[in-house]
Amino acid sequence: MTNAQEPVLAIDGPGGAGKGTVSRLIAERLGWHLLDSGALYRLTAHAAGKHGVALDDEAGLAELAETLDVAFLAENGNARVILEGEDVSRAIRTEETGERASRVAVLQRVRDALLDRQRGFQKSPGLVADGRDMGTVVFPHATLKIFLTASAQERARRRFYQLQESGVNASLSSLLNEIQARDARDMQRAVAPLKAASDAVELDTTELSIPDVVDRIQRLLAESGLKPSI
Ligand code: DC
Repeated sequence: MTNAQEPVLAIDGPGGAGKGTVSRLIAERLGWHLLDSGALYRLTAHAAGKHGVALDDEAGLAELAETLDVAFLAENGNARVILEGEDVSRAIRTEETGERASRVAVLQRVRDALLDRQRGFQKSPGLVADGRDMGTVVFPHATLKIFLTASAQERARRRFYQLQESGVNASLSSLLNEIQARDARDMQRAVAPLKAASDAVELDTTELSIPDVVDRIQRLLAESGLKPSI
């Protein structure tokens, strides 16, 4: 059952800063729920393509977002995303869908339509929420807010290797251009722009490994008294 009293660890920041991996690892260690809010924007963009809804049709997109028939499954440590009965786990991770998601994400009505769905993830024993506006808009009373950053060059490099590992060819320079364009759109949009909450702890991960980042957040959690036992 949804419970607004349950603790929330909000992890925001630009794409490629390590939020996804870090959030998943911390959620696994704590045994908490995980909200990958970017996936909801990606799913809305993907569903729009499937149903022929234009990316400037705000009302049509908001309706899609509101009624998304989606299931997040965890199988042998792998997250699977099922949209209308179809496994779209890979399809929603492409650069193209990311680009389309960032266009969909500027629309107020789409963001509003996804708000309750996101807050519904706040359940016992706690939630790790990964996104752009977790600490500012969706969970303003989050118990601990982290803002993860890394230089655009480092984020492009990480993405490059990630894509290579999954067998996808990409060019480093075009990834850097895409990351910079996406950052600009996410930070400059009027609605829920990407920015650190005033009470967020900022962590620059450019020089840090994933285990380093996880350790630091664990320490912050312990200091906050949120989960002293980890
Ligand atoms: O984190 P991601 O790359 O999966 O996110 C895809 C797009 O969705 C990204 O360009 C910004 C947008 N987004 C958002 O506006 N708010 C969120 N809470 C999460 C993602």
